[in-house]
Amino acid sequence: MSSPFRTVSLSAELVDEANKAFDWRAATELPNGLMLGRMFEHKRAVPQTIPDKRIVQLNSIVGLQGKSVLEIGCFEGIHTIGLRTFTDNVTAIDVRPTNVFKALARLSFHGADAKVFVADCEKLDQSFGQFDVIFHFGVLYHLMQPVQHLKALGAMGDILFLDTHVAASEAELGSENVDGRDYQFALFNEGGWTDPFSGKDDSSKHLTLASLQDAIGNAGFSAQRLLNFRMERNGPRVLIIASRTLTLEGVASVSPDAPTS
Ligand SMILES: C[S@@+](CC[C@H](N)C(=O)[O-])C[C@H]1O[C@@H](n2cnc3c(N)ncnc32)[C@H](O)[C@@H]1O
Repeated sequence: MSSPFRTVSLSAELVDEANKAFDWRAATELPNGLMLGRMFEHKRAVPQTIPDKRIVQLNSIVGLQGKSVLEIGCFEGIHTIGLRTFTDNVTAIDVRPTNVFKALARLSFHGADAKVFVADCEKLDQSFGQFDVIFHFGVLYHLMQPVQHLKALGAMGDILFLDTHVAASEAELGSENVDGRDYQFALFNEGGWTDPFSGKDDSSKHLTLASLQDAIGNAGFSAQRLLNFRMERNGPRVLIIASRTLTLEGVASVSPDAPTS
């Protein structure tokens, strides 16, 4: 695939200046081989692949070319660039201004562009726009109102591609009623505003897988598939594709009974 991005001429000095401008928490390799950002010993110890393999999977299922994509919680813009390799219509939001600045800087240094805004996804509704695809990675489990948020997304997009932690089977569960239906969740502490990966509140709710699937269905996404159910350091995590209009026939689900290691 030839690159859809502009060629930008960046000397080592300019990249060094960008690397000093922000407290980067991830790194990507620029087209000229220089590294933008910072690598860490444990998590994000290597430059992140662009596009991420799950974006390649999304493209193979729905064909992103020509589609409008809303990315929720864009962090430093790495998936934003990945999505831009397949479609020129990407809008991204993050609740932290610094993440938005970093995302815009990273896009620019990769010769790419997208519409990037500071916004709290828990306050979004259809007045923000209508999208073919909502790309939602690593954010739902940082929210206090995940069910209400999924409901709002149901009015904003056709396809939901969601990667999130769910509550572990042995977790102590709470329950809440939203629009007459019960949803179960485990409560977690968040890392605070200065942690660039965290939610905006002190705590967050991790829905059980069954409640998450119910919330997606009740939001109007009539077809859904569990693409992946895995165990990570911070607990079980799922990748789900759902759609209001596609039947997702031919897209297989994995077993919802237990995460694989
Ligand atoms: C764990 S990081 C995931 C980043 C990226 N999506 C990924 O998969 O690598 C969570 C991101 O969501 C953002 N975020 C947290 N709560 C948010 C909210 N209410 N609205 C918008 N963004 C939020 C954080 O600032 C952070 O950039």
